[in-house]
Amino acid sequence: MSDLPRHIGIIMDGNGRWAKKRGAPRTVGHQQGLEAAKRVIQRASELNVQCVSLFAFSTENWKRAADEVGFLMSLIATHLRAELDFYRKNGIRVIHLGDISALPQNIAREITDIVAETSAYSRMTVALAINYGGQDEIIRAIRKVPADSISTLTAEAFGAFLDAPDLPPVDLVIRTSGERRLSNFMLWQTAYAEFYFSDELWPDWDGEKFDLALNYYKSRDRRFGGIK
Ligand code: IPE
Ligand code: IPE
Ligand code: MG
Repeated sequence: MSDLPRHIGIIMDGNGRWAKKRGAPRTVGHQQGLEAAKRVIQRASELNVQCVSLFAFSTENWKRAADEVGFLMSLIATHLRAELDFYRKNGIRVIHLGDISALPQNIAREITDIVAETSAYSRMTVALAINYGGQDEIIRAIRKVPADSISTLTAEAFGAFLDAPDLPPVDLVIRTSGERRLSNFMLWQTAYAEFYFSDELWPDWDGEKFDLALNYYKSRDRRFGGIK
């Protein structure tokens, strides 16, 4: 399907509000948000989407209460250990976006392990953005550019210093829960992305809602600055 986005970035938002509506702690929302992520990855894999990037924890999310941050970290670590088989069975390569050096050691280890154990798979890539910020990624990339090549640096050459240089640009950004902002997500890669905003909270997402986003994408006329 040529009108399928090659790379979809998802800002999975609304877990806390989903829980609050049910009188449950925010952690329950995060748990259900993880289930939604699995449903959506499953659907993307059925459709042969090349790459899905999931915003799981931002560089700004450290501002939250320590127990929520701790819960999110252990939820992510547990998921990575428990779902290795799922990623394997579906031929999914898992990669990480963000600054791994500032993550707790146990989660950094789970990330390194799953990345290594799925590195040979090529059917689909799932990029997990954990301790990820678009500005932070750009700054870390700038620091990697050799000083003697700064004056001749092109946008294309700069892209090679980002966290996942082999991924295609983001074609479609999905954000749930009614917010309409990027919140520092993949600032460089979304330069020409289309945007799909859904009022539904992330834990309510499933394959059908994902299909609606893809239908919207198909209806867009992408010009990239040219004239059609
Ligand atoms: C998104 O849900 C998950 C993360 C940011 C980790 P939120 O936790 O932001 O949920 P709301 O926005 O408070 O409802
Ligand atoms: C963005 O959601 C980060 C993730 C989904 C991981 P936030 O809930 O943190 O974003 P803001 O604070 O509403 O912009
Ligand atoms: Mg939020």
